[in-house]
Amino acid sequence: MSHRTCLAVVLAAGEGTRMKSTLPKVLHKIGGLEMVGHVMASASAAGADALALVVGNGSEQVRAAVAGLYRGKAEPDVFEQHERLGTAHAVLAAREAIARGYDDVLVIFGDHPLLVPAVLQQARERIAEGAAIAVLGFRPPVPTGYGRLIETDGRLVAIREEKDCSEEERRIGFCNSGIMAIAGEHALPLLEAVGNDNAKGEYYLTDIVAIANARGLPVVSVEADHESALGVNDRAQLAEAEAIWQGRKRREMMLSGVTLMAPETVFFSYDTQIGPDTVVEPNVWFGPGVRIAAGAEIRAFCHLEGATLAGGATVGPFARLRPGAEIMEKAKIGNFCEVKNARIEAGAKVPHLSYIGDASVGPGSNIGAGTITCNYDGFDKHRTEIGAGAFIGTNSSLVAPLKIGPGAYVASGSVVTEDVPEDALVFGRARQATYEKRGRALRERLAAAKRERR
Ligand code: UD1
Ligand code: CA
Repeated sequence: MSHRTCLAVVLAAGEGTRMKSTLPKVLHKIGGLEMVGHVMASASAAGADALALVVGNGSEQVRAAVAGLYRGKAEPDVFEQHERLGTAHAVLAAREAIARGYDDVLVIFGDHPLLVPAVLQQARERIAEGAAIAVLGFRPPVPTGYGRLIETDGRLVAIREEKDCSEEERRIGFCNSGIMAIAGEHALPLLEAVGNDNAKGEYYLTDIVAIANARGLPVVSVEADHESALGVNDRAQLAEAEAIWQGRKRREMMLSGVTLMAPETVFFSYDTQIGPDTVVEPNVWFGPGVRIAAGAEIRAFCHLEGATLAGGATVGPFARLRPGAEIMEKAKIGNFCEVKNARIEAGAKVPHLSYIGDASVGPGSNIGAGTITCNYDGFDKHRTEIGAGAFIGTNSSLVAPLKIGPGAYVASGSVVTEDVPEDALVFGRARQATYEKRGRALRERLAAAKRERR
């Protein structure tokens, strides 16, 4: 089949009142990505060459978020719907984009984060076969609130909003997901014919079905899975969508070769990348921007965000990797450690209770328990650079800016404030003083004083 051009119009102007939020509804996140981001990604994956986003409520915020998502890439066209006069009116806000002329026009709601590209492609196929409109229908457990698909002899003759349904029509279980594909040549003439003579006094997109029928144009329905049709209106549905999304992502990870010991306790972001043969123990959270190569090990109770792990790296249990943490081949971050904006070179070890921030740790170095890079002086952040094969004794404070040369040895409990040359030994603390027998004498004196007080 020759390439058919496609425009996806994403509606995101609604009020989203039921979210009870100052954030526009479509900016609430699923798997760390705004719902509208998921929808636009699905549209692109279904072959849309162009995206038109219709904004209204909170439009400034939505525009800014979308610009952030598409930084450095071709941004979607954004159109403002100044008044919320209904879904057909909303689509017409993108008139200019539709008028450019596409073979297929997809209309998608911005609050359907679980929409899979395959169902959009199915709808597009029906248009390629000659339908003027292909509507994605679904069968929800309870159809209340949805528009009903009215079919006769395999033809979709109308979509009736629940408020406008007869008693009999209300018993139909096949409902409108809200998503449809329209043949580009018919899109504007059909949309422009929509009026607002209905229970809500709105311009209903769904009316184009009856209008197309009246014009003798073929209209069909495509049955979509329940998840693709799931629109998020409140925070309970947001959590439901998150759970479904996480379930999909876990499965995708496992099928690509990642071991998840307790998958239901591991949470991913939309962009989490993990190589095969990596083992993830229970209770791990992956925030955005995590990339892990093959054969790494993430032990229980870790929190990772913006971190990169090379092959064979080990992290946790109970570790926190913050943005800019780079853990190289076979390096090890142990329990109760935090790493931020720091590169831990191959084979280096940070096994216990450390904070390594704004730093580099050379290959094969060993950072003793309780070591802290003091990177912040209350005003600025400073770097700590530790050379290859260095040994930092336990409970050392490394006061940045600081360079510790390769092979250096820092005695435990040091407060290191000056650069340390290669292979040097540092005692950065007061020397221990020991006095024979004076411990016992001190205790006896204290006991006597206490007796006297009584
Ligand atoms: C719509 C459908 C209904 C379907 C249901 C599925 C129509 C008339 N009805 O009903 O058949 O079963 O979705 O969830 O299309 N929007 C705008 N501008 C507007 C109005 C709406 O951008 O002026 C956007 C909203 O942000 C939302 C979407 O369009 O993303 C749907 O609008 P909404 O009012 O929620 O439609 P429903 O009544 O749910
Ligand atoms: Ca809705």
